[in-house]
Amino acid sequence: MLSVIVLILSFSFPSNILPLPISSFRRLDLPLTSVGPEAITFDRFGGGPYTGISDGRVVKHNGSTFIEIFITSPNRTSLECDGTNNPATLGVTCGRPFGVGFYFRENQLFIADAYRGLLVGVLGKKLAVPIATGAEGVPFKFPNALDVDQLTGDVYFTDASARFSLSQIQEAVATNDSTGRLLKYDRRTQQVTVLLKNLSGAAGVAINANRTFVLVSEFIANRITKFWLRGPNAFKSQVVATFQGMPDNIKRTPSGDFWVAVNVPGPGGVMLPTAIRINGNGNILKTLHLEKYYKNTPISEFQQRGFGTYYIGSRVGNFVGVIN
Ligand SMILES: *[C@@H]1O[C@H](CO)[C@@H](O)[C@H](O)[C@H]1NC(C)=O
Ligand SMILES: *[C@@H]1O[C@H](CO)[C@@H](O)[C@H](O)[C@H]1NC(C)=O
Ligand SMILES: *[C@@H]1O[C@H](CO)[C@@H](O)[C@H](O)[C@H]1NC(C)=O
Ligand SMILES: *[C@@H]1O[C@H](CO)[C@@H](O)[C@H](O)[C@H]1NC(C)=O
Ligand SMILES: *[C@@H]1O[C@H](CO)[C@@H](O)[C@H](O)[C@H]1NC(C)=O
Repeated sequence: MLSVIVLILSFSFPSNILPLPISSFRRLDLPLTSVGPEAITFDRFGGGPYTGISDGRVVKHNGSTFIEIFITSPNRTSLECDGTNNPATLGVTCGRPFGVGFYFRENQLFIADAYRGLLVGVLGKKLAVPIATGAEGVPFKFPNALDVDQLTGDVYFTDASARFSLSQIQEAVATNDSTGRLLKYDRRTQQVTVLLKNLSGAAGVAINANRTFVLVSEFIANRITKFWLRGPNAFKSQVVATFQGMPDNIKRTPSGDFWVAVNVPGPGGVMLPTAIRINGNGNILKTLHLEKYYKNTPISEFQQRGFGTYYIGSRVGNFVGVIN
């Protein structure tokens, strides 16, 4: 605590680079040896966080510990999968839930599983049901993130690449892959349509407050593209932000801005995890440096709840970070 105060007092920051207004940092430890709480969500009663982890489970923090809520593969066995942290070898068998988001009205959790496609889970039933594994004849290779339109139950989601799976990310980056897609699952017709293709490492997606556009990040191209859903620009898109590092998940804030988790390569090859707050036009409003808590460790998500609590996901960490 003292060191935090000293740190804040001992530097002066440019106005858009603020120290974290932190009073505490906590870790919500994942079960056993599993890692990788990539994305974080909460149910309609505020219960959670829920997150998908490396051993294939979607777990929920019940106030004291993470408990299993969903699995995404019918072939998954606890014996083979619980506590594992190598989806590269067990992803297809165990599942690897990445994007998670509730449709509050129906109490359903949508899951973008890196190996098993888009699924939906109903609380009370452990096995989530697949609803799409491809679009326009092209199978998903690396479903990554999603956001649910709470008015319609439609789901906007990304497939990072049509060529490279989760275990081949490095190849995707090395070859500057641009076969990622932004997709929409229409709840009424149960069809998936392609909104954008040729994305370079499609990662995070977030709907804005009045549902007129979505933002999608591309971790290989280091940028964020805005895709208009309605209005005069409907179905058009435009790059609105570029970063020094790789953007991952995008989460809308209570006031309608967005937090983007961005991993910036630093001196000597270290990874500097940052959270960057942008508005819907892509203007950078704030940059928070998180290496104090994620030393040389990438983060995948930075999510604000209320006005002073932040939840942090990471593809490699073995805990969900909480700042308040
Ligand atoms: C959370 O779940 C664990 C394991 O099932 C249980 O022992 C504990 O009592 C639960 N805690 C709360 C606060 O519900
Ligand atoms: C489950 O495993 C069996 C046997 O290996 C395989 O034939 C089947 O396709 C698997 N099912 C799924 C949904 O992966
Ligand atoms: C990588 O792909 C992106 C998007 O397709 C493109 O804008 C960029 O110029 C490419 N970069 C290189 C080094 O090929
Ligand atoms: C976009 O992707 C399609 C395949 O989905 C490919 O045929 C086409 O060449 C790509 N266009 C560009 C400009 O890269
Ligand atoms: C929706 O919100 C955006 C800001 O996020 C604003 O520019 C736009 O005018 C709003 N559109 C409607 C139809 O309310």
